[in-house]
Amino acid sequence: MDSTTTGIWPSILSIAYLIGSVTFIIGLKMLSNPASARKGNLIAAGGMFIAIVGTIFLYEENGEKLGNYGWIFGGLLIGSVIGVLAAKKVKMTAMPEMVSMFNGMGGACAMLISIVEFDHLVHGGAEVNVVAGFKALMAGAEFDAFTNVTGKLLVILLGLIIGSVSFAGSVIAWGKLNGKIKDFAFKGQHIVNLLVLGVTVILMVWLMVSAHQASTDDVSFNLEINNSSIHLNSGGSLAGLSAGFYIILVLSIAYGVLFVMPIGGADMPVVISLLNSFTGVAAACGGFLYNNPVMLTGGILVGSAGTILTILMCKAMNRSLKNVLIGSFGATATGGGTAKEQGNYKEISISDAAVVLRYASKVMIVPGYGLAVAQAQHVCHELEKLLEERGVEVNYAIHPVAGRMPGHMNVLLAEADVPYEKLEEMEQANAALPNTDAVLVLGANDVVNPAAKNDPSSPIYGMPILEVELAKMVIVNKRSMKPGYAGIENELFFQPKTSMLFGDAKSVLQQLVAEVKAL
Ligand code: TAP
Repeated sequence: MDSTTTGIWPSILSIAYLIGSVTFIIGLKMLSNPASARKGNLIAAGGMFIAIVGTIFLYEENGEKLGNYGWIFGGLLIGSVIGVLAAKKVKMTAMPEMVSMFNGMGGACAMLISIVEFDHLVHGGAEVNVVAGFKALMAGAEFDAFTNVTGKLLVILLGLIIGSVSFAGSVIAWGKLNGKIKDFAFKGQHIVNLLVLGVTVILMVWLMVSAHQASTDDVSFNLEINNSSIHLNSGGSLAGLSAGFYIILVLSIAYGVLFVMPIGGADMPVVISLLNSFTGVAAACGGFLYNNPVMLTGGILVGSAGTILTILMCKAMNRSLKNVLIGSFGATATGGGTAKEQGNYKEISISDAAVVLRYASKVMIVPGYGLAVAQAQHVCHELEKLLEERGVEVNYAIHPVAGRMPGHMNVLLAEADVPYEKLEEMEQANAALPNTDAVLVLGANDVVNPAAKNDPSSPIYGMPILEVELAKMVIVNKRSMKPGYAGIENELFFQPKTSMLFGDAKSVLQQLVAEVKAL
């Protein structure tokens, strides 16, 4: 922000922004380890608090404070109450929906900032930093209207387009995750999407060229100096460009809807992560616009973290981003999939399963979405401790997309205080599985489906999986033979090594604990 007052307050505000930026970086670093993640989140939130309070009370422009305290604190109060209630009430399994909706709100903010700033640009004149302005004039330089009007318009338009796409796309993703919006695709949709995007970009370029023309036409005779800043009164000519601006807004929202609509099923987390990075970039545009280092740092961190997460998730599913965005995996994934006749499966009783686990030397637990649904993480940890006390080595195999959000299983098990060292990542777990006596699959399905390796016609073909069939024996706990998220049969359930242990994960684990204690 261009704070134009003198005194110590601008310096204190700069320090507040510096603290904010540094805490974001430290917080993000700490988020990469489950043991420090909670603290990291609090540190970053503390930095954000300092930056917000600093802006509200210390920021001055032309010697005036922000004012509008009723609106500011009213908005803060309403937003904080909704945020706290939503975060407290949300079920772990509904977390991706909430993340998607909150992300959409970030996109909406960037969109609204662009709308407001465009209005200022066309009706209030383009404001130019007074120091830079005087320096330029003293040096006898021509005033660079392109930098000051067209440059500002570029940032406004980027924030508008990226923010609107993120807002509309996130709302659609939220609706699809909670089942309120169904997948919708039509023939040639990708071409329509490209056309919408193309027209948006062409309009943006046209707007920029027209704005440049208008601002350079006006600047020579419209320089007006008031007490602390210089205004380029190019508003009259720019006002005529409003129609183009609002068409870009509508097209960007339409693109956000069209882009997410056909993507479904198992690809949704990748899309949410991508939209998250869009919101970060849109927020960074706000940082450029207001010359605000905290918005810039925060936006860039979210943008880059979201992009890295998107790439990592694509890698975990062995798919390219292009394939995720225009491929058919997602669309077919939730649509029921292939229900091939697989033959017979065998069941195991609770007492037999308890004997297998109790007398094994090495047990690997594979947690999945069903464990989260059953909220059975605490009793799962109890079983693990019980087995360890009896000399069994127990570890957990964590698939990167098990559950319904990135890191879902890590968060779930951390809630139950499962030691982090017991969690093995996919590659590590796959290397250990041939030497494992028994695998206990708890509410996982797609992440252990061998079709991903063996069946090129399978919609999940190519996705790396936990190769549990390499172990000596596999016990699968779920409530029925129904498919998982990808909507496809799992040939693992029909293999000779596999035994099904039907029932709700929590109740089954409670019974297993009782049985193991009795042995
Ligand atoms: P899924 O393939 O979804 O399978 C979960 C299984 O849990 C179901 O087959 C279900 O079978 C069982 N289940 C449900 N409630 C249960 C309960 N109370 N007790 C015991 N079992 C229960 O889960 P997964 O293996 O974790 O794979 C995750 C899938 O979700 C992948 O396809 C992934 O791509 C997708 N996805 C992942 C994410 C992220 S980022 N993690 C986000 C969205 C989607 P029954 O109904 O027979 O019990």
